[in-house]
Amino acid sequence: MEFKIDATSHHKARACTIKTAHSEIKTPVFMPVGTQGTVKALDANDLLSMGAKIILGNTYHLYLRPGSKLIKKFGGLHGFSKFPNSFLTDSGGFQAFSLSDNSKPDENGITFKSHIDGSKHYFTPQSVLDTQYDLGSDIMMILDDLVALPNTKERIKKSIERTTKWAKEAISYHKEQQAKGIGVNQNIFAIIQGGTDKEFRKMSAEQLCALSDYDGFAIGGLSVGEPNQDMYDTVEWTTDFMPLDKPRYLMGVGTPEDLIENIERGVDMFDCVMPTRNARNGTLFTSTGRVNIKKAMYKEDNSPIDEECDCYTCQNFSKAYLNHLYRAGEITYFRLASLHNIRYYLNLMSQAREAILADNWVEFKKEFYEKRSSKK
Ligand code: GUN
Ligand code: ZN
Repeated sequence: MEFKIDATSHHKARACTIKTAHSEIKTPVFMPVGTQGTVKALDANDLLSMGAKIILGNTYHLYLRPGSKLIKKFGGLHGFSKFPNSFLTDSGGFQAFSLSDNSKPDENGITFKSHIDGSKHYFTPQSVLDTQYDLGSDIMMILDDLVALPNTKERIKKSIERTTKWAKEAISYHKEQQAKGIGVNQNIFAIIQGGTDKEFRKMSAEQLCALSDYDGFAIGGLSVGEPNQDMYDTVEWTTDFMPLDKPRYLMGVGTPEDLIENIERGVDMFDCVMPTRNARNGTLFTSTGRVNIKKAMYKEDNSPIDEECDCYTCQNFSKAYLNHLYRAGEITYFRLASLHNIRYYLNLMSQAREAILADNWVEFKKEFYEKRSSKK
């Protein structure tokens, strides 16, 4: 991949360009989550019309169903889903940990039971790359060892050691495969762990970032129930140990406020189920804060969700109509609400980028918070 820093602004905020085989990605970037090879309620055209340059897929889910060999037959995720821009695929480490019954890591990989049919499987640093070669994702994530927080120092230390061991195995396997012509257009990111402990984060970041063949680095293991300020402090601390000349990705984060705070702390890439999941639950994001579309107060409200929004939903429909569709349980509601929330997140990232390019981050951030607190 090609990576270029276009501008920097207040503190560690930066605007970059990442070029993969399938798209040019302007950062800061939010990657909508398409776990099963689709962003829920949407299709490839919807995502293209909203300007999404990269979306996420999940190795864990696609490996279990429909299977990566089948997807490979259809030309990988791009051919199968018809989304022509970039895909990033998570490795399955996090999903095996959070979704399956009694997942059990050992020195060489993770044993887990499928959440679909209870069948037993084993992921290794190499096997999750094989699956991701079949999926043809532009950015592949390594297998990492997750721990529930809070946890003992010994267990967190173990997780760092394992993640580094697996990262070394993964990068040498990837180089071997590329030498054989496999995955030549695919990039690979390592994942820094270490809970909210500074020394552990430093250790993990230093060990992984020394592996200079990695195309980028992620911060994992956050947004798992710790206080927000702990997440911000951990990111602030960790980005100082990450190289300037490679993309930085904060996994599974977050709210609009979390994105703004972490861009300032040096993060380029984000993903989260929040805009899509919240859309389906009736929570819509706007420039003045959240709207709970279920509320009776919107029954006869003829205004769009967000006066400032240029999405398909806001250009065409009222809150009253969405309130009705939600209450009636109509499928169309999910599509219209998801279109809005994703577009809101993408627009927020474009605005953040413009602020960095114009070097007026501080003003931008102030206005972002002021609009929210002035909500009636
Ligand atoms: N998604 C959110 N957090 C994580 C993490 O720490 N590791 C992986 N693999 N995926 C994640
Ligand atoms: Zn909208």
